[in-house]
Amino acid sequence: MIEVENLTRFYGPTAAIQDVSFRVDQGQIVGFLGPNGAGKTTTLRILSGYLPATSGTARVAGFDVFKESLAVRRRLGYLPENVPLYPEMRVRTYLDFVAEVKGVPRQERQRRVAAAMERCRVDDVANHLIGSLSRGYRQRVGIAQAILHDPEVILLDEPTVGLDPKQIIEIRQLITELAGQRTVILSTHILPEVEMVCQRVIIINQGKIVAVDTPENLKAKIRTSARVLLQVDGPAVAVRDHLERVPGVLRVEERPERADGRIRYLVECAPDRDLRRDLAAVVVRQGWGLSELRPADVMLEEVFIRLVTEESPHEQPAGQEGEP
Ligand SMILES: Nc1ncnc2c1ncn2[C@@H]1O[C@H](COP(=O)(O)OP(=O)(O)OP(=O)(O)O)[C@@H](O)[C@H]1O
Ligand SMILES: [Mg+2]
Repeated sequence: MIEVENLTRFYGPTAAIQDVSFRVDQGQIVGFLGPNGAGKTTTLRILSGYLPATSGTARVAGFDVFKESLAVRRRLGYLPENVPLYPEMRVRTYLDFVAEVKGVPRQERQRRVAAAMERCRVDDVANHLIGSLSRGYRQRVGIAQAILHDPEVILLDEPTVGLDPKQIIEIRQLITELAGQRTVILSTHILPEVEMVCQRVIIINQGKIVAVDTPENLKAKIRTSARVLLQVDGPAVAVRDHLERVPGVLRVEERPERADGRIRYLVECAPDRDLRRDLAAVVVRQGWGLSELRPADVMLEEVFIRLVTEESPHEQPAGQEGEP
């Protein structure tokens, strides 16, 4: 349903995305997962025909998004990162206006608007001013405008950003309901969101696809080991060396702090081993300061780092951390 091949987009000399290729089959909900600046919005904007690519091809329902953009737009609904909603318009009037812009025939407009409002559960605020709606409701209106013309493909750019937990659950529920026959790409930087909603995950980092997998496999990859984060005041080389020698430690990674120059250590432990006591003991025995010790959350950033380093082993200059 969606075929992307070697898509590249430059902004000046820098590539926002580079050689991005992936496929999404009909009826799938796919998570497009990546940290800030990864290239999610750029990719979705290209797919929706709003932004030309520098090179590469993208097809939606068999149509080229550049050469046959009209055919693509007819089959595609898009919730942009910042939905251009008009605060002074009422919900129904706005949706009617969008339907007109999208070329929904006049005699069908009312029915389509009513259907989209019901689908997205905004019928109870149909006559409210958009500017007076809560963020959750505004997001639903945004989704309603995306599905007005009953598209086969829906692209949602971070649909749950800025919503409260209750609204997030509602929007996720809505997305799941919308899916059915439709093909959905949902961009997000939240890993659990992908697990809850998506059947497949495409991970993008620094403009490149680093993994395509099921959420289960991805989780399994992350779960293989326990991780502990320590902040130690001591000579980096020695600290690292001692931590690495604690039985059960698989790997120690340094995380130089931005502000104070202190180094934190991410210690990867064998599965199901709680090594916090042992790690603390080593640090104390050496007479170093231990200013932090906690289980490392599985932060998305770390998943990326891992995936990225799996792809290309990192080349940290050995002497860097030894400098005073
Ligand atoms: N109009 C632009 N001009 C210059 N650079 C841009 C422009 N739009 C995006 N970029 C750059 O392209 C890269 C990818 O940006 P993009 O918005 O696609 O990322 P994203 O994954 O959507 O990030 P976020 O999670 O913050 O929304 C970033 O480095 C960004 O600074
Ligand atoms: Mg974005």
